[in-house]
Amino acid sequence: MQPAPEVQIAIAEKRLEVSRKSGHPTLIREGAPVEGASISSAGVFSGEIALVTGGASGIGKAIAQSLLERGAAVVNMDINPAVEGLFDSPLYLGIKIDLTDEAALDSAFEKMINAFGGLDMLVLNAGIFPPGIRIESLGMDDWRKVMAINLDPNLSIMRRAHPLMKRAPRYGRVVINASKNVLAPGAGAVAYSSSKAAVTQMGRVAALEWAKDGIRVNMIHPDQVFDTGIWTKEVLEARAAHYGLTVEQYKRRNLLGVEINSRYVGEFVANMLGAMFEFITGAQIPIDGGSDRVI
Ligand SMILES: NC(=O)c1ccc[n+]([C@@H]2O[C@H](COP(=O)([O-])OP(=O)(O)OC[C@H]3O[C@@H](n4cnc5c(N)ncnc54)[C@H](O)[C@@H]3O)[C@@H](O)[C@H]2O)c1
Repeated sequence: MQPAPEVQIAIAEKRLEVSRKSGHPTLIREGAPVEGASISSAGVFSGEIALVTGGASGIGKAIAQSLLERGAAVVNMDINPAVEGLFDSPLYLGIKIDLTDEAALDSAFEKMINAFGGLDMLVLNAGIFPPGIRIESLGMDDWRKVMAINLDPNLSIMRRAHPLMKRAPRYGRVVINASKNVLAPGAGAVAYSSSKAAVTQMGRVAALEWAKDGIRVNMIHPDQVFDTGIWTKEVLEARAAHYGLTVEQYKRRNLLGVEINSRYVGEFVANMLGAMFEFITGAQIPIDGGSDRVI
């Protein structure tokens, strides 16, 4: 159903406003200006609106930064109140929200529409990684908590996003941040691995259903991105010790011997949302430095 003409005009005007505001954002918390985007990528998303979930820290924050640098308006929804003042830009709107709260999602979407007038790109990224527990000891409450955060809100958000992305002038795009655990699960992580496998399957079905609307849906499977909230210093040291490695050796425990950081993943996702991936949907990309369990 087409929106009423006055609504269409309001949406068009909001979009124009978005494309007129420009300039590079500054990261308030870290005090330093963010690096400028490269000449070739600067402004590629001018006039477009992106929603990132879980972007108050780690990978989501890096994705928000990469999208702002490319000229997109970015709405960032996270339970951490730090999300609200994270970037100093007229194109940034941080919304503190528990994504498991359906009513709060309605009002967050309303705020997004009022601020920027639409949605072109969606990055489903928010997630938790609970402490390792084997199947025989995992309580149902622990299982449900992981599903309630890593899986369920993504359906709620996709449902709300679809009518908006269907109208995206340059076609809607979705990236889902799943996990290496989908392709190579780990013992002690049944709830996490299952939630990420389920959200991947959700993305594959969305790719099938939404192709007719020109919307493409792709997944990433990162492994061990250490500059994030999931990896504390203690966890890192314990994991390295478990394998008899130093932290430095542990961080590069992949075929290419590289350390993947959130900035790299942010740039990668921004590229997936851009023109290079225009003809690709339903793809799953491991971002792991190469793993013999995945290859
Ligand atoms: N770091 C890694 O090694 C790694 C590897 C593979 C996949 N991932 C995935 O990447 C995504 C981002 O994680 P990260 O590593 O950047 O960790 P992170 O903890 O830095 O970021 C996760 C964000 O999600 C937010 N969040 C959690 N529950 C929420 C809720 N109920 N409502 C709203 N926001 C909520 C957190 O506040 C946080 O800002 C997660 O889905 C994670 O599973 C991470």
